[in-house]
Amino acid sequence: MELKTRNLTLGYDKTIILEDINVTLPKEKVTILIGSNGCGKSTFLKSMARLLKPIDGQVLINNENIFNISTKKVARELAILPQSPYAPEDLTVFNLVKQGRYPYQTWLNQWSGEDEKAVDYALDKTGILNLKDKKLSDLSGGQKQRAWIAMTLAQQTDIILLDEPTNHLDIKYRIEVLDLLKTLNKVENRTIIMVLHDINLAFRYADYIIALKDGKVYSQGVPKDIVNEDLIRDVFDIQSKIVTCPLFKTPTCIPYQNYD
Ligand SMILES: Nc1ncnc2c1ncn2[C@@H]1O[C@H](COP(=O)(O)OP(=O)(O)O)[C@@H](O)[C@H]1O
Ligand SMILES: [Mg+2]
Repeated sequence: MELKTRNLTLGYDKTIILEDINVTLPKEKVTILIGSNGCGKSTFLKSMARLLKPIDGQVLINNENIFNISTKKVARELAILPQSPYAPEDLTVFNLVKQGRYPYQTWLNQWSGEDEKAVDYALDKTGILNLKDKKLSDLSGGQKQRAWIAMTLAQQTDIILLDEPTNHLDIKYRIEVLDLLKTLNKVENRTIIMVLHDINLAFRYADYIIALKDGKVYSQGVPKDIVNEDLIRDVFDIQSKIVTCPLFKTPTCIPYQNYD
């Protein structure tokens, strides 16, 4: 499954947010989108999942315009976890995760052993099998986030899109969620495309970075090739020193305004 854009222009009503974007999201890699608040990261991700119609250009999935493919077929190829997903608080974890199976259901085939297996797999992978009968309202932030990720896993798609999946999580759970996504990528060859706020975690976990700025792709590539002080200054409007992380050998940004 390959996802790419062709002269993609996105926006709302007549306001253009991203213009003439041409990117190929590397297959079976972890790609992370970075950029300042409001630059269009969520807008980009929504369009990849067919949730937003382009003003111009196309999103292609295996060279086919995503808008020419049925909703259910798209949902069997890619799953998206939006920035602020909503579900009723009295829903149980099991019933949330079960919703990931909707693309496989027809009126003839309502719920199968296959669906049951996929849900169990997703609960197991995210370490929340023991929470399956709990209501969402009784979960911690980290547990709830894992339940949402489980829902996207139950969908069993090659491509998983996630918009700030570590938002509101403590550092321990942030690492846990990112390690889980990395493992899914490495062990099961899932293509992961996500937005992350924490640039240092982005540089650590990404195989490929796409930096957005002023409606364009500012730069894209492997973190160690593209991350430098100019990028941080231009994209985030802050001075910094880039050092190599002693543990992971990835670029690490130390931002500052002034120092003596
Ligand atoms: N549904 C919407 N209707 C109108 N404008 C929107 C909508 N969603 C986002 N925007 C605007 O589009 C721009 C990009 O938003 P977004 O993609 O959410 O940025 P990011 O995720 O990078 O913070 C912002 O100026 C935002 O206000
Ligand atoms: Mg966003």
